[in-house]
Amino acid sequence: RAEERVSVNFINRDGKRISVKGCTGNTFLDVVVKQKLDFDGFGACEGTIACSTCHLIFEEGAYKQLGPIAEEEMDMLDLADGLTHTSRLGCQVRLSEAIDGVTARVPQTVSDARKTKDKGPSS
Ligand code: FES
Repeated sequence: RAEERVSVNFINRDGKRISVKGCTGNTFLDVVVKQKLDFDGFGACEGTIACSTCHLIFEEGAYKQLGPIAEEEMDMLDLADGLTHTSRLGCQVRLSEAIDGVTARVPQTVSDARKTKDKGPSS
């Protein structure tokens, strides 16, 4: 079956909404990379569950559609700044038709688990 295009809205740290399309089966990180979205420090470990910089906060309804959360993801999320009960790692959740029109918020602060002392963008 052909890939479907799904609408995805991101809310950047400055509160701006960015609406893009992605293909089902792609991760949110794939979408950010493909669309060249400028989220500082996002996806630093390129999806290897080593950094938590791809932390996204979802709406309750969409969160429930995102599928199961693996233990590795859970462990890494525990290290993310500003963790919420609808937080996921953007490199681990995939687009599906069920979440067409989803809104994902980029948290105010990033923490790269690989350099725990470094909070937020350095520039
Ligand atoms: Fe590093 Fe997702 S990109 S954990």
